[in-house]
This record gives sequence, C-alpha cells and structure tokens, in this order.
Amino acid sequence: MKHIILFISLLAPVLANAGPSTEVAWTPETLNLVKKGDLAKGKKLAESCAGCHGENGVSALSEYPSLAGQVANYTYKQLMDYAKGHRVNTLMTSIAGGLSEQDAADLAAWFSSLTPPPAKQGDKELAKAQQLVEAGDGKRIIPPCFTCHGGNGRGEKMDVPALAGQQADYTANTLLAYKKGERHNDIYSRMRLIVQQLSHDEIKELAQYYQQMH
Ligand code: HEC
Ligand code: HEC
Repeated sequence: MKHIILFISLLAPVLANAGPSTEVAWTPETLNLVKKGDLAKGKKLAESCAGCHGENGVSALSEYPSLAGQVANYTYKQLMDYAKGHRVNTLMTSIAGGLSEQDAADLAAWFSSLTPPPAKQGDKELAKAQQLVEAGDGKRIIPPCFTCHGGNGRGEKMDVPALAGQQADYTANTLLAYKKGERHNDIYSRMRLIVQQLSHDEIKELAQYYQQMH
C-alpha cells in the first residue's frame, strides 16, 4: 500500500499536463450499465468477434487477445476507448465505432461470463518476471504487478484487467505500445509510468509469465 501511495503521488506532475486518457468515468450509472449487461444480446453480438477472438473468447492467434473471463468494466472501457479514439487500432477502431454503449455493456458482460483462457505450458524459469510481479522494484519505483492485477492474475477492482493465460505476443505488444506512448488510455498513466521503467527483455518475460499463470 505504501508503494502505491508513493507511486500515485509521483504521478501528480504528469497528470497536470496530460489530456484525458478516456471518456469513461466510473459513475454509478456506468457501473450499473455494465453490471446489468444482457448476456443473451452479448452472445449474439459476439458472433462477429469469433473470427479473431475465438469461438469462446479464447483467441487462437498470438497477436489477438483473448476476451474470455475478462473483467467486464475493463472490456467495456476498451470498446468505448476504441470507439472514441482514445485507443487506436486499425481493426478495432471501426468495429467498436459501430457499437452503442448498451452493445458494449452486453458484450462485456458476455465475455466476462466465459471461462478464462487456460495457462500455457512453459519450459523456462521466469525468475525476473516473477520478482517484478510479486515484489516490484523499489529502486525504479515499480509497484508489484499483483497489487493491481491480483495474485492470480485475474484482474481486480473496477477496471484492472485479467492477464493470466493471455496471448504473450499480444501482451508484449500492448506493453510496448504503452512504452512508446502509442497506447495512452490508462487512467492516471498508471501503466505508462510503470512500463517506461521496464526493459524490452523484461516486457517479453512478463508477457510469458502471465501466459503461463494459472
Ligand atoms: C478482424 C479481427 C477482429 C475482430 C473481428 C474483432 N477484433 Fe477485437 N481485437 C482485434 C485485435 C487485433 C486486437 C488488439 C488491438 C490492439 O492491440 O489494440 C483487438 C482488441 C480487442 C479488445 C481489447 C482487449 C484487451 O485486452 O485490451 C477488445 C475488448 C476487443 N478487441 C473486443 C472485440 C469485440 C467485442 C469484437 C466483436 C464485436 C471484436 N473485438 C472483433 C481484432 C479483432
Ligand atoms: C497501479 C495499478 C497497476 C499496477 C501496479 C500494474 N498495472 Fe497493469 N494495468 C492497470 C490498469 C488500471 C490497466 C488498464 C488500463 C486501461 O484502461 O487501459 C492495466 C493494464 C495492463 C495491461 C494491458 C492488458 C490488456 O489486455 O491489454 C497489461 C499487459 C498490464 N497492465 C501489465 C502489467 C504488468 C506486467 C505490471 C507489473 C510490471 C502491471 N501491469 C502493474 C493497473 C496496474
């Protein structure tokens, strides 16, 4: 907890100059919209996502993220961010642009109801990544990933995504996108500031680590 408070206090100067990272605000109305997402409608809408994100929301392609078991608020926020131009991707921008807020809530509820992707077998020791996930690095002011993403990597609190079982190539790419500032839809720059401190090798190892987490 101490780490987090220190960390957040260090963000203040960055925040002062930053434009909005998102238009999603976690008001009671928005939280309720997602909570009450219609599973049957979400399931129907999700048929058009299966070609890329997999039949049951478990992607078969290493650069396409799995959506199954994802925290619903997180999925809703990403869809809105793509739709409003706060997160940019050639494929997702136009797809999300065609969704209403209600559609996004229904899809988010549906995907969160599905079984999360299974852990992939790994053959390597990932000691460095484990250290960062469990203990962080005080010298570089990196808080342990688990404090936000959960001890089991299933995400937590409000809009923090699950990472366990996620395609490692996708995870590494999106972390690099935060590092380069190409992805900037994280509220309070929470991820950008952390990733800035990570080397490319650490990013790759962390992506592998989470793919293997069960
Ligand atoms: C043509 C392929 C394609 C289709 C169809 C597609 N997606 Fe995607 N989706 C992608 C790719 C590629 C990414 C990763 C983009 C990036 O890095 O920003 C992505 C990312 C996402 C993300 C962000 C995931 C995360 O972990 O941050 C969400 C949410 C998402 N898609 C939802 C959907 C939904 C819902 C549909 C159907 C309505 C859909 N997608 C249809 C290719 C597709
Ligand atoms: C202070 C809380 C916090 C900490 C600590 C944290 N994260 Fe995050 N992370 C977030 C939030 C919040 C998001 C969602 C941001 C958004 O809305 O785009 C996120 C997003 C991500 C994503 C994008 C997931 C996706 O599906 O696209 C990855 C990957 C990630 N974090 C990895 C890590 C790793 C690895 C660490 C440790 C080195 C870490 N995070 C530490 C809060 C945190």
